[in-house]
Amino acid sequence: MASVTPWEAKGNIDYDRLIQEFGTQPLDKTLQARLIRIAGEDHHFLRRDIFFSHRDMKWLLDEYEKGNKFFLYTGRAPSGPIHLGHLLPWLFTKWLQDKFHVRLLFQFTDEEKFLFKEGLTLTEAKHWLEDNMLDVAAIGFDPELTDFLIDTKHAGMMYPEAIKVAKRVTFSTAKAVFGMTNQTNLGAIFYTAMQAVPAFLPSIYANKKIPCFIPHGIDQDPHFRVTRDVLPKIGFDKPAAIHCRFLPGLGGMESDGKMSASDASTAIFTTDDQKTVKRKIMKYAFSGGQATTEEHRKAGGNPDVDVAYQWLTFFEEDDHKLKRYYEDYKSGKLLTGELKQILVDKINAFLKEHQARREQLKGKLDRFIIKDEAAFERYQ
Ligand code: TRP
Repeated sequence: MASVTPWEAKGNIDYDRLIQEFGTQPLDKTLQARLIRIAGEDHHFLRRDIFFSHRDMKWLLDEYEKGNKFFLYTGRAPSGPIHLGHLLPWLFTKWLQDKFHVRLLFQFTDEEKFLFKEGLTLTEAKHWLEDNMLDVAAIGFDPELTDFLIDTKHAGMMYPEAIKVAKRVTFSTAKAVFGMTNQTNLGAIFYTAMQAVPAFLPSIYANKKIPCFIPHGIDQDPHFRVTRDVLPKIGFDKPAAIHCRFLPGLGGMESDGKMSASDASTAIFTTDDQKTVKRKIMKYAFSGGQATTEEHRKAGGNPDVDVAYQWLTFFEEDDHKLKRYYEDYKSGKLLTGELKQILVDKINAFLKEHQARREQLKGKLDRFIIKDEAAFERYQ
């Protein structure tokens, strides 16, 4: 039985069923084409349905075309190292920022995993905050257009707004939406109010409603369901959202769902060196190939379950190359080791650049972190 909550994603995930269950809209080809037209460029995450679901995007684009620009909002709860799966929504967020020339408010919920995870101290969360901010900045967001909002640091700005949300959310809603119980700690129950705040914080300071667009993994939708329910009641528009699938763990979707930072053999971290990347992919990536080379040449492989191929659908932008890998693997012309090597080269080329940017940004994060309320004047 597959399960997707803001805390875990397990099993073979049926994304059509998630749309039904969560009550989101499928990102149909018409809307996809409209986004591409306005952006002036296609993105392989769109044409391959890696972003597959949304809320209120039609409204968002209507507003945009009327001259009412949106801002982007996404976030991260620091609790461990960043892996490739974490990067998917951020890579797409950068693309949106570049194409639409809009601001990004990036929330670091450095209290979240302290509240939800047994054994993580605030000091450890702080360590991961510093580490994770480097990875987010290394995505290449424009520092002029990007603001990091840190829950414990910016609590003074956030708390007066969070309580407005919290006042409108009952414990029975928290129970129904998040499965909380009488044993759940108070901080965890309150937390969703903090994740709601960035969706309207710029509107507070601008003193007018600014549309908000949230790219995120589908598992975060419960928080935004609550946010969307409350915001009109306190004078703001519902935020729009676009949802992506999970990058499967190296062991494959069948075994363990999304990539997990707590299992090093299923994940590739942004700081893994070239040898480690190769070793992990060669050793752990679930193969759709046959047991022997002879059999593989004869019967061919199954790219639909092969993790190296699945990952290439996320990381190889060129449709022609991808199609060739698919066909050659299926026919048996391409062996598992060869396909894995193609992936290793692709990931290592990407990480080499990411790591160089990450190094350069050390000690230079201040320009991203919000200093005071004046940051929000630039959102109007
Ligand atoms: N809850 C998210 C996590 O566990 C962090 C987060 C905060 C977030 N605000 C967000 C994610 C907005 C996506 C969009 O990592």
